[in-house]
Amino acid sequence: MKTRIGVLASGGGSNMQAIMRSIDAGEINGEIVVVISDVPGAGALAKAENAGIPTRVMRPREYSGRDAYSAALAAELKSHNVGLVVMAGFMRIVTTPLINAFPNRIMNIHPALIPAFCGAGFYGHYVHEAVLDYGARVSGCTVHFVEEAVDAGPIIIQRAVPVLDDDTPEALAARILKEEHIAYPEAVRLYCAGMLGIEGRRVVVKG
Ligand code: GRF
Repeated sequence: MKTRIGVLASGGGSNMQAIMRSIDAGEINGEIVVVISDVPGAGALAKAENAGIPTRVMRPREYSGRDAYSAALAAELKSHNVGLVVMAGFMRIVTTPLINAFPNRIMNIHPALIPAFCGAGFYGHYVHEAVLDYGARVSGCTVHFVEEAVDAGPIIIQRAVPVLDDDTPEALAARILKEEHIAYPEAVRLYCAGMLGIEGRRVVVKG
């Protein structure tokens, strides 16, 4: 039984594409059945359409608030019988109505090593600027389950990269993005293989 995956994306969708490639290579026992974006014209939508995957644009301003928006996302995902929600470069905060509809079945990727450089305001280039300003010697990416608090759910996979003396935020972001494209497909593979368990805050890989 393949896991039905719903993707939420706001940008180019390179993480989604890495997962699509891994599915096409037969590595993941799942299929992406819908891609939803808050941004009309997002690159992720074009990538999905080119692959014949149904897409939806759902704009937060069309809803009365974060909870109404999250409830609408949940309803749309449920209408496609989604089992796993993959947030891949999704720039919106999701709240209880979505999180409770998919308990421990929503993943997100953050371009830093949680619990460092994460939480409100830490997204995109702001993350990498903060890493460089702080003088950290390593950074990386984190795939985690989504909970109410931003970037705070149980950690599934992390991959680290060195921070170089002459790094710019863009150079660091690009080095991390390569690792994201390894980490995210692996996290989805493990989930779809039924190999992820959760014990308190810890994710355990079974089998
Ligand atoms: C990535 O850096 C990811 O960590 C963050 O969004 C960025 C863009 O992702 N969440 P994508 O290329 O749209 O998948």
